[in-house]
Amino acid sequence: MADKQNTILQVQNLHTHFFTESGVIRALRGVDFSVERGKVLGVVGESGCGKSVTAQCIMNMLPGSGRIVEGKITYYRRDSADSRTEAIDITSLPPRGRAMRAIRGNEIAMIFQEPMTSLDPVYTVGSQLMEAITLHQTVTRQQGKEIAIDALAKVNLPEPARILDAYPHQLSGGQRQRVMIAIALSCNPTLLIADEPTTALDVTTQAQILDLMRALQEETQMSIIFITHDLGVVAEMCDDVAVMYLGKVVEQTDVDTTFHNPKHPYTRALLRSIPRLTSDDKSRLNVIKGRVPDPSVVPSGCAFHPRCPEMIPGLCETHTPEVLTLNGNKQQVRCLLYDDKLMAKSSSPIALAEAR
Ligand SMILES: Nc1ncnc2c1ncn2[C@@H]1O[C@H](COP(=O)(O)OP(=O)(O)OP(=O)(O)O)[C@@H](O)[C@H]1O
Ligand SMILES: [Mg+2]
Repeated sequence: MADKQNTILQVQNLHTHFFTESGVIRALRGVDFSVERGKVLGVVGESGCGKSVTAQCIMNMLPGSGRIVEGKITYYRRDSADSRTEAIDITSLPPRGRAMRAIRGNEIAMIFQEPMTSLDPVYTVGSQLMEAITLHQTVTRQQGKEIAIDALAKVNLPEPARILDAYPHQLSGGQRQRVMIAIALSCNPTLLIADEPTTALDVTTQAQILDLMRALQEETQMSIIFITHDLGVVAEMCDDVAVMYLGKVVEQTDVDTTFHNPKHPYTRALLRSIPRLTSDDKSRLNVIKGRVPDPSVVPSGCAFHPRCPEMIPGLCETHTPEVLTLNGNKQQVRCLLYDDKLMAKSSSPIALAEAR
């Protein structure tokens, strides 16, 4: 499904480790996915599977002891004048260097889960918004102020001129999240990364923010990487979906295929765990058995095998699944069940022993 002409970002075999005093944490163990131009990619998976670390790698902002030890993140920058595309490997750029600063916050912007941690409490909303605007555009103070008011009006904040003079703590959670979106969008990014942007909000405000983001996406045709726990949000927001498990993407395809023809047992288990409101369904919510293992002790073979309802003894704990392309070119999946050669061999125990 990765059509190079239309791909804006491609992550290949990304391995990221944290070198801590108590040992190495292998947070990403070979992440592969791609984002199409003008599309919304949902990234889902249980807590700790590496969603935020992936976002930090793309922004080239890994904290503390984090290092990319292998892999590539290619950003396909398109020149608006002649539509030529230049491939830039983000992992090769120094995090604080000029080239990276030109991309970060300018072409690729990010919205974080909790706006209070990314808005500075001692500065007004206006000064933080103006700082973002003047970083990327040469404007007079008055022009900057007008752009800031426009940006706040665009995210449906009432009385933008008043909000400009407010401090973050004087705003509600939903208002702060709108300010964050306004800051992220003030530079017209081509790719926006939204890491759980509505998790901290009540359901009504969450629905409003999602509507707003989708409308702004349609208007500007930016691409979005939308990180969330919530498959309901994925169904509403996303065109494509990447499902992560323990530092790898185990399945990527379009949103319809994800919901109607999922292939990976983990994707299927996630879908079964969505609560349903049908009156005749009194069964308990399905939860995936077991816990996500600690990334310092990753299970052998397929890392999902200890929790997998379809695990094949003698195969899944010994063989590491590669990415397989199914369904035309539409679906990428890391699961041995779809490895025809291995499955043919696995029907004979002798052949299976040979394959090991
Ligand atoms: N700064 C850090 N130092 C050490 N380990 C880290 C650091 N940040 C993340 N990790 C580890 O990397 C792994 C992936 O973390 P990450 O924050 O990407 O998970 P996530 O998928 O975003 O989870 P959540 O849904 O809870 O936000 C976890 O095991 C986490 O403990
Ligand atoms: Mg996270």
